[in-house]
Amino acid sequence: MKALVYAVRPDEIDFFEQFSKELNLDIDLCSSNLTEDTVEQAKGYQTVIFLAECKVTGKVLESLKSFGINHIVSRSVGVDNVDWEKANELDIKIANVPAYSPNSVSEFVLTSTLVLLRNYHHYLDRVQNQDFTITGLVAKEIRNQVVAIIGVGKIGFETVKNFTGFGPKEILLYDPFEKEEVKKYGRYTSLEEIYKSSDIIVYHIPLLKDTVNIISKKNIDKMKKGVILINVSRGGIMNASDLLDGINEGKIAGAAVDVYDNELSYFRHDWREKNIPDTTLVKLLAHPQVIVTPHAAFYTDEAVSNMVSISLGNVKEFFDTGNSKNIVNKK
Ligand code: NAI
Repeated sequence: MKALVYAVRPDEIDFFEQFSKELNLDIDLCSSNLTEDTVEQAKGYQTVIFLAECKVTGKVLESLKSFGINHIVSRSVGVDNVDWEKANELDIKIANVPAYSPNSVSEFVLTSTLVLLRNYHHYLDRVQNQDFTITGLVAKEIRNQVVAIIGVGKIGFETVKNFTGFGPKEILLYDPFEKEEVKKYGRYTSLEEIYKSSDIIVYHIPLLKDTVNIISKKNIDKMKKGVILINVSRGGIMNASDLLDGINEGKIAGAAVDVYDNELSYFRHDWREKNIPDTTLVKLLAHPQVIVTPHAAFYTDEAVSNMVSISLGNVKEFFDTGNSKNIVNKK
């Protein structure tokens, strides 16, 4: 039994060597993404491990099935890159890494919020140009802000706790599934109140049919003037043109964008010296009130180690029992 690991980054190689040895697993590593063009490489293997940037389309799944592969493993949390209808039809089981370090993403949210709130990016720009003035950059403190978290799951809860340390005016929460343990840190309320009252809105929701473009003109219009938006969730939850309009109209004071709808062509690739054809992305990159990061919120040593060890654990379970405790049920 052998697994092929797709989309391997150099920083993962030592972890793959260490954990495959510990689990006594036979694996091969390749740097290409799993796509319709690369799926042929999986012939002869009994499973594949992939990442969120791989395109696990119906065609990819059909090919994997034809190679005798009945279970596959994502080393990401989000699995919206899989054609679930086809996976169910072909009865291919899919396991993910449900939590590799929720705190890694949450700390990034705090970092992004503070950068925007304290005008840190503007100071860096000025100082790089030997402009040591501070005029026009008077900042705000978190203790005077109403912070809202939309989607209070594993990462959202960490963000709630991390914000608590700064003592914001209030923490508002929205999630269709309320959890008792979160209530001592914040108050669950409606989206309407969040839009009306919040100075900072953080999104920690998965990309689902009802979360597509939740950041849209319709909802931005309901928001408080001067709001800061933090999207470390998925690009598909945000209409980037509406976001830019909201900023240019003065409604939104700043936005942190770690994910982008069309990110697969750009994020994690070196586009220096090349023209980016996506004009919306170009506008986001150029906008002084927007900070763009290349889907990097998760990227810590702890998260990378856990992504590798837990996904290999899933492979081991599949090989030993045909099942895994981390199967994602999308039936
Ligand atoms: P989770 O499943 O623990 O939590 C998601 C929460 O969202 C749940 O509590 C769920 O009830 C809630 N939710 C679902 N639909 C909602 C809606 N319409 N409105 C409000 N809340 C809703 O997931 P986790 O681990 O917290 O991750 C959240 C998302 O973060 C992932 O799905 C992924 O897209 C993104 N992510 C981004 C990373 C990055 O590096 N930028 C890294 C890891 C995850």
